[in-house]
Amino acid sequence: DGNAYRAAQAAQSLEELRAALESFEGCPLKATATNLVFADGNPAARVMLVGEAPGGDEDRVGRPFVGVSGQLLDRMLAAVGLDRTQVYITNVIFWRPPGNRTPTPAEVAACLPFVERHIELVGPELLILVGNAAAKTLLLRNEGITRIRGKWFEYQSAGMSRPVPTLPIYHPAYLLRAPAQKRDAWRDLLQIRERLDHRP
Ligand code: URA
Repeated sequence: DGNAYRAAQAAQSLEELRAALESFEGCPLKATATNLVFADGNPAARVMLVGEAPGGDEDRVGRPFVGVSGQLLDRMLAAVGLDRTQVYITNVIFWRPPGNRTPTPAEVAACLPFVERHIELVGPELLILVGNAAAKTLLLRNEGITRIRGKWFEYQSAGMSRPVPTLPIYHPAYLLRAPAQKRDAWRDLLQIRERLDHRP
């Protein structure tokens, strides 16, 4: 909505964006959540990851990917030589949906101006969309993650001077339920390593 868009665009730094979210009343999830879950990792990193929404652990701690999914995400990153000092991590939703349900399209839409501004302010060299929700939200494609994971796309918002190479990957929560897909997931992760090494 227009208020969210103006509030997000007015932020000139990550601190200002966080403050804008703290005072944003346009997302009803805020009422049931304990904490705003803004980001973790290094804002100067070359790689930015965007997941879905905070779960119970993230809601309690106020940081993304600190529960079991986060532990697997850390192992996925470690497999290609990355840790949280070398990536920046956020979600398309900043507050925990009750019972960890999938966020509604209205909730995603309410947060989207802030997510777009978040990516603009970080200005990553590579953008990694972790799971279906992030991929659908930011690539505006109808195919599910199974179809598009491991393929490079370009993401660009109005405030970005050039598009950023963008890779959708499987969500660790999905891989915990479907470990046979880890083979493909790890192959996708290697592509991140290759891109980083190609232009060190
Ligand atoms: N799953 C997500 O998508 N994000 C989190 O922060 C935690 C779990």
